[in-house]
Amino acid sequence: MIQTEPIEMIEVTRLIPHPLSLQIYGEPHNTTNFEELVESIRSYGVLEPLVVTTKLVILSGHRRARAAMEAGIERIPVRKVKRLSKLAQLELITTLNHHRHRLPSEMVREALAIEKLEHSTNQKTIFPNPSKRKETLATRVGFDSKRSFEKAKKIVSSNDQSLIELMDQRTITTAYRKLYKRGGFSTYSSIIKPSDNWNFSPVQYPRIDKSESHGYIPGDIYANCFWYFVKPNDLVVDPMAGSGMAKHVYEHRHEWMGTNIYDFRLMLFDLTPQTEDIEQHDLLKGFPVDKADYIFIDLPYLGMANKTYSNKKQDIANMNESAYLKAITRIAEACADAQKMGKLCTIISPNYTDHKKQKVVNIVEYIRESWRSVGYKLYLETYSSRRIQSSQGVTMAKLNNIAKERRLPLTDMTVIMTFERI
Ligand SMILES: C[S@@+](CC[C@H](N)C(=O)[O-])C[C@H]1O[C@@H](n2cnc3c(N)ncnc32)[C@H](O)[C@@H]1O
Repeated sequence: MIQTEPIEMIEVTRLIPHPLSLQIYGEPHNTTNFEELVESIRSYGVLEPLVVTTKLVILSGHRRARAAMEAGIERIPVRKVKRLSKLAQLELITTLNHHRHRLPSEMVREALAIEKLEHSTNQKTIFPNPSKRKETLATRVGFDSKRSFEKAKKIVSSNDQSLIELMDQRTITTAYRKLYKRGGFSTYSSIIKPSDNWNFSPVQYPRIDKSESHGYIPGDIYANCFWYFVKPNDLVVDPMAGSGMAKHVYEHRHEWMGTNIYDFRLMLFDLTPQTEDIEQHDLLKGFPVDKADYIFIDLPYLGMANKTYSNKKQDIANMNESAYLKAITRIAEACADAQKMGKLCTIISPNYTDHKKQKVVNIVEYIRESWRSVGYKLYLETYSSRRIQSSQGVTMAKLNNIAKERRLPLTDMTVIMTFERI
């Protein structure tokens, strides 16, 4: 039972619209019949009290509040509700709107807000029966079937305003046919590579932070791995998340998922987190969560990243070759502990040419062996250039000469090894 306070009159200008209301239903003055509502409020006042939090954030009635302002009414009746969880607030915002005719696009946005909340809070109560998740969500927001919900979601995800209006003004089917005809279901995105050659030129997701002092991979590698290896609602873990590029790419997923956009849960950890989205964790102490559907690890490269991320001794970037190799085995074991049969785990690394010792250090082969030894098989290997030649500076020219002279080529290929737990 929700605790409410008695109805009171409050200055309409003190009321604050809830961000979710704006996100789902848009600006009130753009909604249908808004002028009629203003006229009715001008004639009769606000008859039904608004529901607001104790901080005067509107949970129900943001159209009425705006209409009252337009009608020049200063004070309107509100009923305050106390201590509500984010889920309860969302439920109030949406269910209290269910008495009015809502557009299909609004219903989709309600569903997206519920899904987002579910992901961010790991709320199991929204979908007690996971196998009926889509059906429950579709009915909860007012669609007659899962199928029409999915069609409407694709139309909203297309971000094509004319199609969304067509759906809202005519029918879901009309807009869906048009989307279908123009090939709107194509999964085409130039970011996603059709072969194992993941050459990104130009790079769509370059460095996201200002610091030049530490390593990074093009976010495009994340996009391709997520595209090929992650299913809807998977729990994806990046335990060496560095700058948080994984999250950046996930948030821009409409750019590479096209109309087949879907959500998954993403958890980020690092020994030395660079953003607050990343939790501190030493991977050498074990895997940070019990279970992961997909693991993505962009290892610090041996011999190339000493003191790049931190001065810590547990930082594998700072280890000598033998300690580094032991750490790799330890990391493989940690991954195996968190994954069941059939789950995928991607490790990224190039080999390393040690010009002082005049040898190639075959880390890639060592990684393959380590993951096999703890119960994985190689699922797929893809390749991406580190573009070391792209800076044609003096240092690179010298290195090129040394490489040729010593008949020991520089290593440029990042090998993206994906293993399957067996
Ligand atoms: C190549 S970077 C990852 C960069 C990342 N892909 C990004 O998007 O920025 C490797 C990361 O491994 C982290 N690292 C090194 N040793 C670690 C350890 N023992 N446990 C967890 N993270 C570690 C470093 O702090 C660094 O951020």
